[in-house]
Amino acid sequence: MKELKVEISQPKRFVGEYVPPPDKSISHRAAILLSVAKGTGVVTNFLESEDTLATIDCLKKLGVNIELENNNLVVKSEGIESFREPDDVLDAKNSATSMRLLSGVLATRSFFSVLTGDKYLRRRPMKRIIEPLSSMGATIYSRQGGFAPLAIYGGGLTGFNYWMKIASAQVKSAVLLAALRARGVTVLTEPWKSRDHTERMLKFLGYPVEINGNRISIEGGMQINSGNIVVPGDISSAAFFMVAAATFPDSKLYIRNVGLNPTRTGIIKVLKRAGAEIQLKNLIEKSGEPTGDVIIKGGKELLSFEIEAHEIPLMIDEIPVIAVLATQAKGKTVIRGAKELRFKESDRLKAISDNLIKMGGKIREFSEGLEILGPTKLQGTVVNAFGDHRIAMSLAIAALVATGTTIIEGADTVSISYPSFFDDINLLTQS
Ligand code: S3P
Repeated sequence: MKELKVEISQPKRFVGEYVPPPDKSISHRAAILLSVAKGTGVVTNFLESEDTLATIDCLKKLGVNIELENNNLVVKSEGIESFREPDDVLDAKNSATSMRLLSGVLATRSFFSVLTGDKYLRRRPMKRIIEPLSSMGATIYSRQGGFAPLAIYGGGLTGFNYWMKIASAQVKSAVLLAALRARGVTVLTEPWKSRDHTERMLKFLGYPVEINGNRISIEGGMQINSGNIVVPGDISSAAFFMVAAATFPDSKLYIRNVGLNPTRTGIIKVLKRAGAEIQLKNLIEKSGEPTGDVIIKGGKELLSFEIEAHEIPLMIDEIPVIAVLATQAKGKTVIRGAKELRFKESDRLKAISDNLIKMGGKIREFSEGLEILGPTKLQGTVVNAFGDHRIAMSLAIAALVATGTTIIEGADTVSISYPSFFDDINLLTQS
């Protein structure tokens, strides 16, 4: 396992301009939706990371003509009907988004396909997509308990009324993709709103989607035409540097071109709640997605905060770095209703608390959340990424706050979503 050593230099501050990498969720969806659409489309600023490359690889094996050149993805397709039976297993690697969304697409096709992934993905729950897609008429076999590999034989789907048990954008998107080729109308209701990139992108491409609060209706069978999509920066990647800037006294970070979709901006609300100085500028819409710049300054005293269950989907991937923030905030922070974090690339509640406790953090982990007492002077030590990119990056931010040297075992996992993460840390700490 590759080890990465993060050296701490004093004074700690984050200064400069920063352009975050392209959004991972939107990149996956752009590749998939332009593949099921008819015509030629270009995705500008496509994220080149292990997860998104896994999606491209699977789509190529299904017969789609896709080329990635300098962050631009050119997709030529005759539409979803032209997908052909893959002659081998499709490997989603570490990417649940690839596996779950592609299952939705494959559920519409009357051919045999098998989706697998790495040892982490094969441990993650797939019943959540197997159940609704089977109710629509697809045949899906899995390992005992609903784990990948998944063997899918689809086609002949019928629209249905689905009350989702959990707020999950991956489940919602899998059902929406299947609904595109189901007979009649599919109506989906989420308990709370999760990220809505699929709905926005379908609308942007001209496919009718009706949204009423947490209820989405979509009729199958209509033509989807290709288009050109511009991907904004990823707020989940920028979140690490937002927390760093809020934590170091003399910091000033200007973050350009970041996605500011309200279903993703929970991190900004939390930073404001903690008392950080944060400002939004140049708000515009790009390919149906709100985008803008974020300016964040350090030096304000950070105070503890509370996060409730209904807010979790709006910051689902930011909770580990929010836990780091909480170690630097005065008082008792409580994060509730976050059980879903136990089913991510790692058990994120355990992974972040075990590691931060090793660094001197005062954290109590409970079944559905975390309680964190701050502020704490973290100390560098040997920590472990648990095979999870967001844990590795959160620990890197903790390492910058900590005294001494921290060794992050398995830090190379950052390439799942943010291959240039450590280069960006170097750039922003040197400026
Ligand atoms: C994602 C949705 C979230 C998130 C994941 C990406 C997506 O997962 O944690 O990193 O692109 O739809 P869930 O839908 O399982 O909450």
